[in-house]
Amino acid sequence: MKRTLPLLILAALTIVSALATVQAVMAQDAITKLAPEAFGTLTRPPAVFVHDKHNEKAKLEECVVCHHGGSDGKIDKSASTEGTPCVECHKVKPAGKATNLKRAYHKQCIDCHRAKGKGPLACGQCHKR
Ligand code: HEC
Ligand code: HEC
Ligand code: HEC
Ligand code: HEC
Repeated sequence: MKRTLPLLILAALTIVSALATVQAVMAQDAITKLAPEAFGTLTRPPAVFVHDKHNEKAKLEECVVCHHGGSDGKIDKSASTEGTPCVECHKVKPAGKATNLKRAYHKQCIDCHRAKGKGPLACGQCHKR
């Protein structure tokens, strides 16, 4: 018993810290800017994107509007992939005609703003100093 108690405490602590990590990953409200590491050194200031506030204001209730799925060069607009970073499927320098990471963001963000006639279209409105 003397030996198992510290082990039990250790196990409990491990579980608590694992849960905290999961929570941190799930907390998309923590996103205020986008700067995926895959770009390396950014040439522009990171784009402003306050995830939860943005989606509330823009009335985007369906996560799949942005978090789509797909494979083998085909988009699947009904498969929701929330929590999966875009770079998992959109490489900075993909082979062939696949949508690259920068274009994936730009096309998704700007196309919708243009279609709705709301939201920023100019470089400096997203890439704010
Ligand atoms: C307007 C587009 C948009 C909508 C709508 C949207 N998201 Fe996101 N979400 C993003 C972008 C962009 C990222 C950052 C992805 C990346 O890192 O490449 C992201 C990241 C996330 C992350 C990862 C958080 C992190 O800290 O890395 C989670 C979880 C997430 N979203 C959940 C959701 C859920 C749940 C919904 C629906 C209630 C939703 N999203 C709706 C665009 C959107
Ligand atoms: C599970 C894989 C996967 C994830 C995650 C993913 N995509 Fe895609 N996406 C695809 C595939 C496959 C295509 C079609 C082939 C292509 O254009 O590269 C595509 C196409 C696109 C296109 C062009 C076609 C269109 O109709 O819009 C844009 C823009 C895009 N994705 C943006 C994003 C953004 C932004 C994210 C992150 C919020 C994201 N994608 C996350 C797989 C994915
Ligand atoms: C499906 C539609 C849609 C997509 C995708 C989208 N937006 Fe928006 N965005 C809007 C709308 C609508 C508004 C205007 C909201 C309002 O003020 O009424 C907006 C407003 C904004 C604003 C102004 C400030 C704010 O938070 O309201 C910023 C910055 C912004 N978007 C950045 C982005 C970025 C970066 C992306 C891509 C990661 C993105 N948006 C993707 C619809 C969209
Ligand atoms: C609706 C918002 C939005 C607008 C408008 C926009 N961008 Fe972006 N841009 C993004 C997002 C989101 C990313 C990916 C995250 C990041 O790099 O901040 C990105 C990435 C980039 C990158 C690659 C990363 C880097 O910094 O090297 C460049 C370059 C870039 N944008 C240039 C521009 C230029 C030039 C314009 C105007 C012609 C522009 N963007 C307009 C949202 C936007």
